[in-house]
Amino acid sequence: MAQQKGGAGKTTLAAHLAVVWSGMGWRVALVDVDPQGSLGAWHGARAARLGDGATGFHFVAVPGHHLTTILARVVGDYDLVVIDSPPHAETEARIAVRAAALVLVPVQPSPLDLWAAGPTLELAKAERRKAVAVLNRVPPRGPVADEAARELARMGVAVARSSLGSRTALARSLATGHGITEAAGSSAGAEEVRSLAAEMLSAAGVR
Ligand SMILES: Nc1ncnc2c1ncn2[C@@H]1O[C@H](COP(=O)(O)OP(=O)(O)O)[C@@H](O)[C@H]1O
Ligand SMILES: [Mg+2]
Repeated sequence: MAQQKGGAGKTTLAAHLAVVWSGMGWRVALVDVDPQGSLGAWHGARAARLGDGATGFHFVAVPGHHLTTILARVVGDYDLVVIDSPPHAETEARIAVRAAALVLVPVQPSPLDLWAAGPTLELAKAERRKAVAVLNRVPPRGPVADEAARELARMGVAVARSSLGSRTALARSLATGHGITEAAGSSAGAEEVRSLAAEMLSAAGVR
């Protein structure tokens, strides 16, 4: 998950997608490179509820300069490694992007967010990594999502067919260490997350 803009949805995507993938039986490692440690706080809440070792994940918090070493260590033991990268950190983002089979770039459908995604998309291109923009917090009505998708396509960026609406359940379920698919499994938001999770596995070439 990469996007130099804070608040775009990196940690949100990481947690909710990881829950679906883990639930499918994949062995999933979570790597939190963001010093803010939000993914770690979420995983901690999950561990408090389910017990250490019963969260469905191997979790590591890593300072950026150790990322390469840690990734080399976990890659062989897990099917999927989800990296939540920090904002405003060119070097760490570059290491994370370089290691990735697929770079997910959450983008809120507004001109400011599209512009802010530019450097991350350029970084993925420079590292020759496959990047997919994921529209996040899409309002229920209006043309903005289609406009954003068109603009991204014009910039030569692949856009995920699945997107996430603006859903309070995405935020609320994290507080208790849940994914939305666990806390509100039949909600529209859960359906969006499942759809995105399946699409990203095929985009990453995992089956
Ligand atoms: N689709 C969404 N619907 C509702 N709230 C969202 C959505 N995506 C993100 N948020 C909220 O926006 C804030 C920023 O998201 P976050 O995942 O922490 O971004 P980042 O990790 O890129 O800084 C959080 O409070 C999160 O709960
Ligand atoms: Mg974050």
